[in-house]
Amino acid sequence: MPDTITITDDRTGKTITVPIQGGVFPAAAVRELDPGLFIYDPAYMQTAACKSAITYLDGDAGILRYRGYPIEQLAEKSTYLEVAYLLLNGELPDTTQLAKWNDDVIHHTFIHENMRKRFVDGFHYDAHPMGMLVSAMGALGTFYNDAKDIHDKGSRDKQILRLIAKMPTLAAMCYRFSVGLPFVYPNNSLSFPGNFLNMMWRIGDYEIDPRLERAMDVLFILHADHEQNCGTTAMRVVGSSHADPYSSAAAAASALYGPLHGGANEAVVRMLTEIGSIENVPAFIEEVKSGNGSRLMGFGHRVYKNFDPRATIIKKVAYDVFEVTGKNPLLDIALKLEETALSDPYFIERKLYPNVDFYSGLIYQALGFPVAMFTVLFAIPRTVGWLAHWQELLGDKEQKISRPRQWYTGEGTRDYVPITNR
Ligand code: CMC
Repeated sequence: MPDTITITDDRTGKTITVPIQGGVFPAAAVRELDPGLFIYDPAYMQTAACKSAITYLDGDAGILRYRGYPIEQLAEKSTYLEVAYLLLNGELPDTTQLAKWNDDVIHHTFIHENMRKRFVDGFHYDAHPMGMLVSAMGALGTFYNDAKDIHDKGSRDKQILRLIAKMPTLAAMCYRFSVGLPFVYPNNSLSFPGNFLNMMWRIGDYEIDPRLERAMDVLFILHADHEQNCGTTAMRVVGSSHADPYSSAAAAASALYGPLHGGANEAVVRMLTEIGSIENVPAFIEEVKSGNGSRLMGFGHRVYKNFDPRATIIKKVAYDVFEVTGKNPLLDIALKLEETALSDPYFIERKLYPNVDFYSGLIYQALGFPVAMFTVLFAIPRTVGWLAHWQELLGDKEQKISRPRQWYTGEGTRDYVPITNR
């Protein structure tokens, strides 16, 4: 069977044959047929907008790999910082490289005092932490004049380090502000997740339970990258204009904020709370199926049509966490919801399975995080994914500024009508 595709423009009879590589053929072939011919593809359902060597995802088989390494192995054996190195550099670090990388990140965790005193303190007392984080990420770039030197590798590496290291600090700061607690400075003798938990929860004495510290690290690993999702695409689109990485990452975080993306874990807990008890599950499922617009949050995925491997790992982490914190009372409702949906033809036919957000919210809640912090917890580790894609984009000679085309469906030309004649 030839690995080619032949397209004929029936209007002109012109035919082209182009190679198919890795299941993809270049859209430039269409341009060759007719430069005025475009492909209509809302939400990029069938469009590969870049080549990428970072994350492999097979939705039908439920496979997720970072740089070739299965997510299951990384979640079991690695740490978030090691995974961050892997995503950025393509290879796992050796002992010396890892020690240097950990040390470098740890020495960039502090933020400028003005970020807290002048910037964060200016928010309204009930500001949403994710809204604060998005703004703080953009503002952070204004402290570094070299942020714009995106063509200089040294500068790029430094901004990457800064963003990864400062995200937990910014996140914890937004939380502490929202509850009126004094800011806790980073403690560079702690691990990456340990430092974050300490900045979040320290009031007087605070001892980090190593099981919760590890659970946090695993959650960070699972959320580190997920190829061309909405947030990462935002990072690439904004980055393609050669904006600085702080502005680009703030755009990616804004995309993540939406309830159909990183906001889903927040929506799951709200949904479970609203359902209230196991007895109400069947009625809720019927409501979702009635097509009134409500969805079973934490279910379904654009790419995974069999199961989300992250959801399988997260369900296990949930039980590990509940052993320390006690069971989240919403767990029983979640389990019943999962069981009911997975045996219902509506969900089976549409290949709707629990996604990463279905159980992550329950863990976050058991760890003590308020619902409004859930997307923030997603943004901390996803920052490395955004930056790995940004770096890849800038090194890709085939990339240009993003500029899709449209299918114009508006009025034809018409003359301006004075307001008195309308
Ligand atoms: N509950 C009920 N019905 C659903 C759901 C759901 N969660 N998800 C999809 N459907 C139905 C949808 O109504 C449609 O039915 P029909 O063919 O009768 O019109 C069919 O399934 C296909 O749905 P779609 O909206 O075309 O699928 P999509 O690929 O555009 O959407 C999704 C993917 C994740 C946005 C969607 O499944 C959804 O809204 N899920 C709930 C929100 C959620 O959990 N988001 C987190 C995603 S994972 C985290 C991340 O990677 O960002």
